[in-house]
Amino acid sequence: MSEIDTIETEALNAIECATDLTTLDGVRVAELGKKGRVSGLMKTLGGMDPEERKEMGPRLNALKNRLNDAIEGRKTALEDAELEARLVSEKADLSLPPRPERTGALHPVMQVFEEIEEIFGAMGFAVAEGPDIEDDFHNFTALNFPIGHPAREDHDTFFMAPDKDGERKVLRTHTSPVQIRTMMSQKPPIRVIIPGRVYRNDWDATHTPMFHQVEGLVIDKVTHMGHLKGCLTDFARAFFEVDNVVTRFRPHFFPFTEPSAEMDVQCDRSGGNVKVGEGTDWLEVLGSGMVHPNVLRNVGLDPDEYQGFAFGMGVDRLAMLKYGMPDLRPYFESDVRWLSHYGFKPWLLPSLSGGLS
Ligand code: PHE
Repeated sequence: MSEIDTIETEALNAIECATDLTTLDGVRVAELGKKGRVSGLMKTLGGMDPEERKEMGPRLNALKNRLNDAIEGRKTALEDAELEARLVSEKADLSLPPRPERTGALHPVMQVFEEIEEIFGAMGFAVAEGPDIEDDFHNFTALNFPIGHPAREDHDTFFMAPDKDGERKVLRTHTSPVQIRTMMSQKPPIRVIIPGRVYRNDWDATHTPMFHQVEGLVIDKVTHMGHLKGCLTDFARAFFEVDNVVTRFRPHFFPFTEPSAEMDVQCDRSGGNVKVGEGTDWLEVLGSGMVHPNVLRNVGLDPDEYQGFAFGMGVDRLAMLKYGMPDLRPYFESDVRWLSHYGFKPWLLPSLSGGLS
C-alpha cells in the first residue's frame, strides 16, 4: 500500500470515529494543517522530478479534497446530532401547568361573556365598549331619564367627587350609556353587543356592588318588535342549550325604550333548582324594548327614519342560573377552591358547533 493510501485509510477512519467537533478538528490539523501529514507530502512535490510530480500532484490534491469533504460531512452530522440532542433535552411541554396544584380556570362570568358573544357574533353583532366612569349625560340624560325622575334613584348610583367644574361623574349603573356612545360615533345600520362592568350600591346573596351586563343595540330603518322577539328567543334557546325554550315578553318600563318588555323563559322550580325549558314557572332573563324616539333624537337620528331595539341582561345572574351557583358573593372573593370547582378550562372556547359549555 502506498503512503497516500495508508494516510487516506487512517484519516478516514479517524474522521469517522470522531464523536465531537474538537476531536474532528484535531484530525483535520494532523492531516491537513500546516504541519500535517498531507501537507508534509505536498512539500515533497518540489523535490520530485517532473514526471513524478505530474503523477503525484493530482493524487495528493485529490486526497486533500476527499479528506476535506469527509471532514465537512462529519462536521455537519455532528452538528445535527448536537442540535437534535439539545432539542430533546430542552423540550418543554407547553400544555403542562407550571404548578399542577394551581391550574388556572376561567371565571364563570368570563365563560358566560364568551358564550353570549359567540351567539350574537353568529347573528352578525359586533362588540362595542365604553368607559366605566360615565357622565350624567350618557348614563341618564341622553337615555331619556328626565332630571329629577325617580328612575334615577332606582339605580343606587355611586357618585364620584365633583371635579373642578363641579361635575359629578358616576360609575355607570348599566351598559346602556354605550348605546349613546355607539350611536354618536357610528352610522346606522348598527348591530352591537356591549359587555361590561356596571355598579350599583347594593349587597346581598343576589346583588354585588359591581356586576356585569351585556347590552344589545340594533338600529336601522326596518327593525320592529317582531325582530326583537325572534332575536332574543333564538338567543335564549342557544344560551340555555334547550331547543324548545318558550319565552314570554311582559310589558315593563324603561325610560329609554318604548314599548319595553322583560323577557322570561319557561322553567321548572319544583326540584329546588331551576330547570329551563320545562314546567310551568317563568324566569326573568333580560330587559328590552324598541329604542325610544327621544333617545334617537338625543343622538341626532331622525325617529321618522330610524328605529331599532335594545336589550340588557345581567351576566352574573345568567351564570348562576346556568351553572347552578346559589350565591353571587363568592364570585368576587378570589377563593381558588371556588374557582377550581366552578371555573372553566380556559382553552375550551365556547362555540355554537362544538358546544357552548
Ligand atoms: N339598562 C337596563 C337595566 O340595567 C336594561 C335594558 C337595556 C333594558 C336595554 C332595555 C333596553 O336594567
